[in-house]
Amino acid sequence: MRIDIITVSPELIKSPFEFSIIKRAIDKHLVEIHFHDLRKYALNDYGKIDDYQFGGGAGMVLMIEPIDKCITKLKEERVYDEVIYMTPDATTLNQQTANKLSLNKNMIILCGHYKGVDQRVRDLFITKEISIGDYVLSGGELGAAVLCDTIIRLIPGVLGDETSALTDSFQDHLLSPPVYTRPSEYKGVNAPKILLSGNFPKIDEWRNEQALERTKKIRPDLLED
Ligand code: ADE
Repeated sequence: MRIDIITVSPELIKSPFEFSIIKRAIDKHLVEIHFHDLRKYALNDYGKIDDYQFGGGAGMVLMIEPIDKCITKLKEERVYDEVIYMTPDATTLNQQTANKLSLNKNMIILCGHYKGVDQRVRDLFITKEISIGDYVLSGGELGAAVLCDTIIRLIPGVLGDETSALTDSFQDHLLSPPVYTRPSEYKGVNAPKILLSGNFPKIDEWRNEQALERTKKIRPDLLED
């Protein structure tokens, strides 16, 4: 998989890709991440990429021309499955969307900034718009990092234990059951005996019950479908 991230703040988004599981996925060549500084496509030597919005109002709007130049250049080099725009006014990211996107080969992610992008960018170039939640961030960069993380961990070979992405919370519309490790007793509080029993069918049954209980209590909306 290859992901091209277009941003006005490349430094803001780089560090999540330099550690842990995501870094290992890059080192193993399972994913390539390329950052594109929108200012390199600016209209003038001062790096102009934004302007006041027509009709008045606070906040600057990212202009279409630099974004067009950047996306067009990338599209000349390869075919993209999706051109994604990170913005709060979109449908919210969930596990099903991440699962689908993890099957793609090439994707562009455009990070919004300031007041957003000229609507014509969205109309002409964007194939999918994603919000990471009902709150407003200062830009799309942190959202793009979240999106990439959740997609990349699903690529086969990224997680050591092939099954562990499938047992994550939200796969099957359920939250994960509680987990325990050594010591089995800590200051008088015991781990559930069943987990130490070695009876794996019973352990699976217990985990399923716990997952359902937790979901009913914390996120009943996940069970509505
Ligand atoms: N940019 C600003 N807020 C955002 C959000 N909630 N999700 C994605 N991108 C954003």
